[in-house]
Amino acid sequence: MKSAKPQTYHVKSFGCQMNVYDGERMAELLEAEGMRAAQGGEADLVVLNTCHIREKAAEKVYSDIGRLKREDGSRPMIAVAGCVAQAEGAEIPRRAASVDIVVGPQAYHRLPQLIATASQGKKALDTDMPVQSKFGALPARRRQGPSAFLTVQEGCDKFCTYCVVPYTRGAEVSRSWQAIIEEAKALIGAGAREITLLGQNVNAWTGLDDRGRPCGLDGLIRALDREPGLERIRYTTSHPNDMTAALIEAHRDVGKLMPFLHLPVQSGSDRVLQAMNRSHRTADYLAILERVREARPDIAISGDFIVGFPGESDAEFEETLKIVKRVNYAQAYSFKYSPRPGTPAADMDQQVPAQVMDERLQRLQALLNEQQHAFNRAAMGRRTSVLLERQGRRPGQLIGKSPWLQSVHLETDAMIGDLVEVEIVAAGPNSLSGAEIMRNAA
Ligand code: 5AD
Ligand code: SF4
Repeated sequence: MKSAKPQTYHVKSFGCQMNVYDGERMAELLEAEGMRAAQGGEADLVVLNTCHIREKAAEKVYSDIGRLKREDGSRPMIAVAGCVAQAEGAEIPRRAASVDIVVGPQAYHRLPQLIATASQGKKALDTDMPVQSKFGALPARRRQGPSAFLTVQEGCDKFCTYCVVPYTRGAEVSRSWQAIIEEAKALIGAGAREITLLGQNVNAWTGLDDRGRPCGLDGLIRALDREPGLERIRYTTSHPNDMTAALIEAHRDVGKLMPFLHLPVQSGSDRVLQAMNRSHRTADYLAILERVREARPDIAISGDFIVGFPGESDAEFEETLKIVKRVNYAQAYSFKYSPRPGTPAADMDQQVPAQVMDERLQRLQALLNEQQHAFNRAAMGRRTSVLLERQGRRPGQLIGKSPWLQSVHLETDAMIGDLVEVEIVAAGPNSLSGAEIMRNAA
């Protein structure tokens, strides 16, 4: 390992949107340290911002490390960040000797010191969860596209029996109202027109508002609604138990709050939910959705599902299909259960054979894909706003999002960041096509 201080960097994020956010903040930190993003060529420092949620995601980092070796046999300085770093710590350089830095999701504000240590040829490890939050030590937000992420809450106290998050991200912590509003203003000033509030349990956010009154996520959403320049507000991921009446009302009252709710239920079987320690039943979940739909009839519902949780019977899996049919999802993520070290479910009897899980996942995904396609088809002929986010594959084509988080392709001479009014003219399983009607339709 050459020991010069790196000049260029590349951050590669895996997993959830919170990791994407952390990756952006790491990049900003490295730039504040005078480093530049590597352009096409090879970076002096590569940060792998990893995910530990399922085994496949966690193992990926090791094959990626192997691939960083250059043709001449040299390699960049390698930092493993994110949840694998938190979970495996010193085990990582033992297994992959070329790793120089291991830094957990609550410690990455200390990257500059870790890089300095690694530049002297020493291994650098920091998986602390300091009481003082990293946020205060990070530089202010700078680069931004039209759609920005803003982490408002981290960690989880719910301890679902399959999940590593309480161990990798720690206990539930809410950032302060002031810090969030200040960051939102900085993002808007840098060009963000949409902000997605992020948290592992984002709807568990609590704090004191600008007048010192206790408030929940709905209060934050209402405050952001008053920010000029901001057009759209979203939030993810939510837990059913924290879906307060006030938050549901915000879906009725707040114009900028988009009609989309990601609310995972994981299984349609009450016995399985109990074994997962979800602390809600299917009936509770359905009742919440009923109230949400009353407040905002056009709301799109999204979810997460796990098939093959230990002990899940054929009949219990059928109940998952049943709840999917009841809810009718606009979009959803579904996964085969993956035993995670240190979680209670990993030690449960009756692990479900891989082949059974494969078959269940296929059936569930076929149903969810059909629902998503039907949801997209229902948009045909509808007029809707689209926030243009990126270049499409064809010249003159831009891609943006509808209020319901559908990707919309559009031939236009409008610019990225414009909010345009379109008519939906085609609907595929994964995206829509629109024809422009009006520019800058807020
Ligand atoms: N195995 C499979 N899927 C999991 N998820 C969380 N832990 C596991 C696991 N051990 C899924 C859940 C969660 C999403 C982020 O990942 O559905 O909502
Ligand atoms: Fe993966 Fe969870 Fe960590 Fe996000 S918080 S990167 S989903 S393990």
